[in-house]
Amino acid sequence: MSGRNGPHTRLVHGGRKAQGTVADLVNPPVERASTVLFARAEDLYDAKPGQRYYGRFGTATQAALRAAIGDLEGAADVVLAPSGLAACTLALQALAEPGKHMLVSDSVYGPTRAFCDGVLSRNGVEITYFDPRAGAELAAQCRDETCAIFLESPGSLTFEINDLPAIADLAQARGIPTLIDNTWAAGWFLKPLALGIDYSIQAATKYHTGHSDVLMGAIAARTEERAKVIRDHARLTGNAVSPDDAYLVLRGMRTMGVRLERQQQSALKIAQWLSGRPEVARVLHPALPEHPDHALWQRDFGGASGLFGVILRPVSEAQVYACLDALTLFGLGFSWGGYESLAIHCDAQIKRTARPWKAEGPLVRFSIGLEDADDLIADLENGLAALG
Ligand SMILES: Cc1ncc(COP(=O)(O)O)c(C=O)c1O
Repeated sequence: MSGRNGPHTRLVHGGRKAQGTVADLVNPPVERASTVLFARAEDLYDAKPGQRYYGRFGTATQAALRAAIGDLEGAADVVLAPSGLAACTLALQALAEPGKHMLVSDSVYGPTRAFCDGVLSRNGVEITYFDPRAGAELAAQCRDETCAIFLESPGSLTFEINDLPAIADLAQARGIPTLIDNTWAAGWFLKPLALGIDYSIQAATKYHTGHSDVLMGAIAARTEERAKVIRDHARLTGNAVSPDDAYLVLRGMRTMGVRLERQQQSALKIAQWLSGRPEVARVLHPALPEHPDHALWQRDFGGASGLFGVILRPVSEAQVYACLDALTLFGLGFSWGGYESLAIHCDAQIKRTARPWKAEGPLVRFSIGLEDADDLIADLENGLAALG
């Protein structure tokens, strides 16, 4: 369609013509339903593809969101889940079987790791964590029974970048499905499916929603065959999301591109400022040339979102608390990707087994929102002064 292929244009129009949407409303109405009525008894067990059937499988509201995310990710189909973590666990569980083996990046989000260790392991799946910086050499860790490779890039605490094309190649050669938690790039700055990864998973709670008021997850599949595996599992396990939440996420997505572009600029400015501060040993931001994976980021990503970390020079826990408590614009709280800036200290969350995490001091993570970058810098200046 000529003239409608720019990324912002696509974000504005994505899903607006999805099946069942109302043509003269800008936004799809919130259709709440458990029961869908059928005209004739003989239709009850003969639903046509795409036809509404039962509320758990979604109405036009969820269909519009799936279509919009599918367009953004370049996916054959998208399955929604009630949170980002639920999207990760649904996809992993769909691929897992007792006696099988999974390779998981050592930098993965803590609760995803806890699911692998606490649920998949208990159900007979062997998990091997691998060095997030492994590329083609990961082939040596693949086995006949390897049933998935799970990535997160950059890792949302430690910010290592996985070598996606190398891992997609070695996995495809062996028929092993690959998954990535793509929340940092939001599907906006990274298109993993185009690089040969099978599933791009989003905590749409973060940038898609953008306003810190909804939980949502999405699994975007590269091919219809891969999508069916997840859809079937979602159906068997009763997975469903509320149309009200789907509506809010889609509404958030319309402005996600402009928010991310602004958050990218501000985060980079703040990261550069922090890298010149004596209290900071290192900034963990892949768009900075000194980041060890900068070249991979430059090759595969179209930009950087607003989440990054800093390693402080050695200070006590009490000093880190004093620094964070002195911030007035940054909120202290979990999650990220909203319009408001957040800060947390992270060391308690970092769990590593394949490549030990070595840092000069405590790790503090920032999610940069839409405030003026100079105001945020002034706030951080006060925070750093409170380190003492
Ligand atoms: C990288 C990453 N993936 C997944 C999630 C889970 O998202 P949710 O909070 O929607 O379950 C988070 C949440 O912080 C995250 O940081």
